[in-house]
Amino acid sequence: MISRLWAKIGKPSPQTAESPQPDRVPQHVAIIMDGNGRWAKKRGLPRIAGHHTGMKAVKRAVKEADRLGVKYLTLYAFSTENWKRPKDEVDFLMKLPQQFLALELDELIEKNVQVRMMGSKEDLPSYTIDALEEAIARTADNTGLVLNFALNYGSRKEMLDAVKEIAEDAKAGRLSPEDIDEQLMNARLLTGGIPDPDLLIRTSGELRLSNFMLWQLAYSELWFTDVYWPEFNEAHFQEAVMQYQRRKRRYGGL
Ligand code: FPP
Repeated sequence: MISRLWAKIGKPSPQTAESPQPDRVPQHVAIIMDGNGRWAKKRGLPRIAGHHTGMKAVKRAVKEADRLGVKYLTLYAFSTENWKRPKDEVDFLMKLPQQFLALELDELIEKNVQVRMMGSKEDLPSYTIDALEEAIARTADNTGLVLNFALNYGSRKEMLDAVKEIAEDAKAGRLSPEDIDEQLMNARLLTGGIPDPDLLIRTSGELRLSNFMLWQLAYSELWFTDVYWPEFNEAHFQEAVMQYQRRKRRYGGL
């Protein structure tokens, strides 16, 4: 069954002069989806119109990641700092996962996509949690693209929570300081089991990380574009992947 949104956006990907090489596709792509507000302002629309159109760009990105053979796609949908926004905007943003999944879950299941969430469920409205939990449960056995929503996520909180948990274990004698290494820290972070992003994309021309995956991005390749998130399309995704493929990753070595 083809959902309305898939059908609308389901036309073939725009062809760029070049295409990404299929054998060197980043395994994990993380995206800071920025510029919804400015996209709307430029058109004289309310900010929430930018978020609504941003949801369609989420759809395109998921589809393109899947088509390219990306294994993990992490999307920064709401940060722990975004609560500072006006209540109307926060309420609208909180409804987007439910709206998106109501439209797309059947198709995601059909495409073998596994939905996950990373962030704190504390403070999230029950309808947001319920929609995500349903999607997570119904796609838990899927083996295709892992679609990881970072929602009510902040990297410093994530690291502090992990450190507190480790300290509790050490205090209780369940581990000793010598056991604390990168592997242990990786396991205690919300990404536990998901490899670090190979490629980080940020839209809208801002050149910062905004408290996103600070530990996990240590050796990721970063790609920034001036394009506002609601306009981000398949060709932009391909361009980011091609740029990634031109980079030589050295991980601090030669
Ligand atoms: C940043 O743009 C964007 C957000 C805080 C929200 C991102 C959410 C979406 C793209 C839709 C999410 C969809 C699903 C399915 C969860 P901004 O508002 O800060 O833009 P600005 O910097 O131009 O003001």
